Amino acid sequence: MCGIVGYIGNNAVAEELFAGLKNLEYRGYDSAGIALNDNAKIEVFKASGKLANLDAVLQKNHVEKYVSHMGIGHIRWATHGAPTIENAHPHLSNDGNLVLVHNGIIENYKELRQELQNKGVVFHSQTDTEAAVHLFAEEYKKCGSLEEAVRNSLPKLKGAFAFVIMHHNEPDKIIAVRKNAPLIIGSGQDENFVASDIPALLGKVSQIIHLDDDEMAIVQKDKVVVKDIHGHILNKKLEKVDMQADVISKCGYAHFMLKEICEQPAILRKVWQKHIQNQQIVTDDAKIAVNWDKVKKVVIVACGTSLHAAMVAKKVWEEWLHLPVQIEAASEFIYQTNLLDENSLVIGVSQSGETADTITALKLAQKFQAQIMVLTNRIDSSIVRYASSVVPLDAGVEISVAATKSYMAQLAAFYWFGLLMAQKMNKISASDMAEKLQNLMQMPEKIEEILSHQEYIESVAQKLAHHSAVVYMARGFNLPTAYEAALKLKEISYINANAYPAGELKHGPIALLDENMPVLALFEQGQTAAKLLSNCEEAKARHAPVVGIGGRKASDIFDDYIETPEVEACFSPLLMCVPIQLLAYFAAKTLNREIDQPRNLAKSVTVE
Ligand code: AGP
Repeated sequence: MCGIVGYIGNNAVAEELFAGLKNLEYRGYDSAGIALNDNAKIEVFKASGKLANLDAVLQKNHVEKYVSHMGIGHIRWATHGAPTIENAHPHLSNDGNLVLVHNGIIENYKELRQELQNKGVVFHSQTDTEAAVHLFAEEYKKCGSLEEAVRNSLPKLKGAFAFVIMHHNEPDKIIAVRKNAPLIIGSGQDENFVASDIPALLGKVSQIIHLDDDEMAIVQKDKVVVKDIHGHILNKKLEKVDMQADVISKCGYAHFMLKEICEQPAILRKVWQKHIQNQQIVTDDAKIAVNWDKVKKVVIVACGTSLHAAMVAKKVWEEWLHLPVQIEAASEFIYQTNLLDENSLVIGVSQSGETADTITALKLAQKFQAQIMVLTNRIDSSIVRYASSVVPLDAGVEISVAATKSYMAQLAAFYWFGLLMAQKMNKISASDMAEKLQNLMQMPEKIEEILSHQEYIESVAQKLAHHSAVVYMARGFNLPTAYEAALKLKEISYINANAYPAGELKHGPIALLDENMPVLALFEQGQTAAKLLSNCEEAKARHAPVVGIGGRKASDIFDDYIETPEVEACFSPLLMCVPIQLLAYFAAKTLNREIDQPRNLAKSVTVE
């Protein structure tokens, strides 16, 4: 969502901040700004829209003329208040001395605002953040120390925050503090950084400190001191940055999304190599602390694409394990009459590991003493704090806002973990295991075959791009793929796409069909194919253009047909997600959309 960068050192501060923000751009944002602690005063530069607009502001103001050794920067994804210059961060106190950037949401900002306004404080924005600036500034007036002012104010703030703060009278330090929002300190030689995420620091530092909740870092040029909320010094470990700079390079691809789609066979190979050995599923048991004898119920909570991966898991696991699996959108899970107890295994799935809805759902599961596991692509993220078992997805950093390779990695994790459960619960024979592993091992090659048909898929997408709405339909294992297909197309092309169980079409949505409403049907082997074909006939009879995707084409009714290699139905979601990702990608490309950073979306959604 929003992104934070802070720098203290001898380099050109504005350049350092701008470069850091550039590396966070992928998270999605709609305004940006930086503040420099200049000799004369705090200078703030802001712009609505993309970083190019901020760059223009910096150039116009000849930013290089300011003498500063420290500064803070921010990209904002609007929540409270439109993406205007007034609402953009950094926010400055009325005396012009205290400035801060903030990620997260101050839940009690209205009360704080009222309280401060009653004391005569003037507000300039609609943001929740501004309440914090004035709160800290009022406290500073009383104690004259930034560190103390922040510490004294924190108990008054409810919600989630990562703050990075400077005061003009203390030009040797940046204060960083967090609660329920990520923040890291990058440690360099005679320079230090603060950031909300590692990519901001790539190529800058090789060691970082992860701040935990209720911790505050006092960041100076040559040292970093981390304290707890009471001011006691903590002995925090420096950790090696485990990320390569090329993750934020397109490596010759037109977009990160296409690069990430094409990385999928390699990711699968890596995951299989790690978890399939000697016809068995292997894993680091230290990280998976599930008491298998107690598992009587499995609940998976997630959002968006991760939720669709969970829906695939339900279908596959129920077939393989004969164990009921409940799937919930994390944002709704919290309103359920939860029938959880210590015999429940609750699995949270999140690419970013920062999704507020999913984290809140897991916190609730903790209250019921359920066993908690997370599947995440970021093992350094906030979500791992709420789980006793952690499964890394190993997809590598995903830059495009639209999830593709992380979806594949989530599916892969669900497949091998399903087999691991079957192994642990004695629900699979050696021969069945061998056959299933064989199927999984063949997937990368089959995906490569689909990727080799990009040109044809692009031609189909170009036709779809002329329609303002489409319908996806499927039966069986690929119903979640249909939901994912519709989400992907909506996210990046802005074409209205809906997905239905094919059998549901005749119960209402069929009213939508005419020559302007393409219907895309996802075929898999087995009992569902014949009925799905009948549903295609029904669509055709209403003059809808019909596109089939799946194994060998079984009829001539299709206007277009994207053929995928034949596989047993339960494995086909691993293949079928690829053509639907490519269709979305090429439709968005045809429409000249901003594919990697679609409007209104953020890579990690840290608000509920
Ligand atoms: C995927 O393309 C979306 N950008 C979005 O639905 C995403 O999957 C969702 O916000 C959940 O994110 P997470 O996996 O990081 O928790």
